[in-house]
Amino acid sequence: MNNDGRQFAPATARNREAILEILKNELPSDGTVLEIASGTGEHGHYFTPHFPGLIWQPTDYLPENLSSISAWQNYESRENFLPPKKLDATSSLWPVEETGYPHPDITAIFNANMIHIAPWNVCVGLFEGAGRVLNAEGLLILYGPYKINGEHTAPSNADFDIWLKNRDPDFGVRDIEAVSEIAEKNGLSHVQSFAMPANNFIQIFKKL
Ligand SMILES: C[S@@+](CC[C@H](N)C(=O)[O-])C[C@H]1O[C@@H](n2cnc3c(N)ncnc32)[C@H](O)[C@@H]1O
Repeated sequence: MNNDGRQFAPATARNREAILEILKNELPSDGTVLEIASGTGEHGHYFTPHFPGLIWQPTDYLPENLSSISAWQNYESRENFLPPKKLDATSSLWPVEETGYPHPDITAIFNANMIHIAPWNVCVGLFEGAGRVLNAEGLLILYGPYKINGEHTAPSNADFDIWLKNRDPDFGVRDIEAVSEIAEKNGLSHVQSFAMPANNFIQIFKKL
């Protein structure tokens, strides 16, 4: 951690450029991007200058992450990078649903590296919330590792899966088919998949 409270995730520095290139083509030009599980806050801090028409709402459920996100905002303020909100993906009422939330035009949700390193009910909660808050045609954009047809896409992902399950048997690299099934139950459809560096993917779901 830096003296000013900013935390740094080395993986974010490695993946942010490749993610940005996809977001430039896929994100809508206006509205609010709700980021779930912002972690250190580095993604939002890095992306927002590239999307002047979008408002970026970072969130996380851990107080230490909310502090780091605020520290990134204090370090370099960006008009369209909002103060973080506490949001647990499993909650049945997200803060953006509360009466008086000033930016409820949610045209996209961005979520990186969460659903494999959290219990399955967090993935379910993410899609239930996306089903509630996204505008029609809104996008849910996920980044992380996936299995395809039950198979890992690289030996390193298989090793990572074992490491995750040793940490918590309910963690694990998710099957894109299982995730898509949850999406369908919540009114979203899996519309696109991008292979990314380091055996990761961007998966895009659209609210019908
Ligand atoms: C590996 S970190 C990824 C952080 C960031 N998105 C990134 O890519 O650097 C996993 C994140 O998921 C968050 N998380 C885990 N369970 C959550 C939940 N139930 N609701 C919201 N966030 C959660 C953690 O607090 C953490 O920020």
